[in-house]
Amino acid sequence: MTRVPMTVLVVGATGSIGRLVVDEAIRQGHAVRALVRNPGKAGRLPNEAQVVIGDVTKPETLSGAVDGVDAIVFTLGSDGTGKVGAENVDYGGVRNVLNALGSRTARVALMTSIGVTNRTGSYNRATEAHDWKRRSERLVRASGLPYTIVRPGWFDYNGPDEHRLVLLQGDTRHAGDPSDGVVARRQIAEILVRSLTSDDALRKTFELIAVTGPARDDFDALFAPLEADPQGALDGVHDTANMPVKDEPRRVRDDLDSVLAHSERLPERS
Ligand SMILES: NC(=O)c1ccc[n+]([C@@H]2O[C@H](COP(=O)([O-])OP(=O)(O)OC[C@H]3O[C@@H](n4cnc5c(N)ncnc54)[C@H](OP(=O)(O)O)[C@@H]3O)[C@@H](O)[C@H]2O)c1
Repeated sequence: MTRVPMTVLVVGATGSIGRLVVDEAIRQGHAVRALVRNPGKAGRLPNEAQVVIGDVTKPETLSGAVDGVDAIVFTLGSDGTGKVGAENVDYGGVRNVLNALGSRTARVALMTSIGVTNRTGSYNRATEAHDWKRRSERLVRASGLPYTIVRPGWFDYNGPDEHRLVLLQGDTRHAGDPSDGVVARRQIAEILVRSLTSDDALRKTFELIAVTGPARDDFDALFAPLEADPQGALDGVHDTANMPVKDEPRRVRDDLDSVLAHSERLPERS
């Protein structure tokens, strides 16, 4: 049974999605801890949020952030900083926070992106952002932690009548534009927070879009029909197998080995 309310750490709390996650988690009755790298931005967060100063690229700043948390929502974004940012923030940030958590357990909700398995599009060729986000997904799956991975469509490109959420699997939409799917930021935040307390969302990876129709509030019914990722799998269920681990950079394989070795030494975590 999932414990409610939780203490929820939001990593990326000052971002366009993270701020809404903070609001939504408070609205759902959770205690919220916001990881903030720039203290000047802390004042924009609601008073109810506990602010912890830290930078995900600096592991020594993260121990206070993870202390005593029940759940972690990742909404990091390194946009504009290219391949280095994608590796250090989108991927390295997740790795460093999971390392800081160590052998403690926490429910994880990770936001990546629709199209994350598309390696050949111009966006990924320029930034490697898809590849690094997908590697962060792999770390979460390998961690042994209970997780949900949400791959949203294009933020706020939805029309005023497009709020009926549709959850897809296999990441087959690769146009690289809003024709892949659209969804309101607020609904992304809501799904991320709802997933933390839904047993039906456990070990599930899905793309999140909205189509014409009203919003629903039966979140378990949205999560329940989805297939869970196979136990021990590194990729989402039905994902294209186009990133073989054996071809990955040595440092990525080392990170995966370290997370896997760590999770195998732990009692089953749920
Ligand atoms: N736009 C779309 O339609 C779309 C669709 C699907 C997926 N996405 C993905 O969503 C992500 C963008 O989400 P968003 O709009 O919420 O991003 P955002 O507004 O840029 O927020 C990113 C968050 O990450 C934080 N951050 C960055 N580097 C950090 C560090 N070193 N330590 C701690 N925190 C750090 C930022 O902190 P600061 O406030 O201090 O910068 C901010 O809180 C992108 O990665 C994008 O690929 C976007």
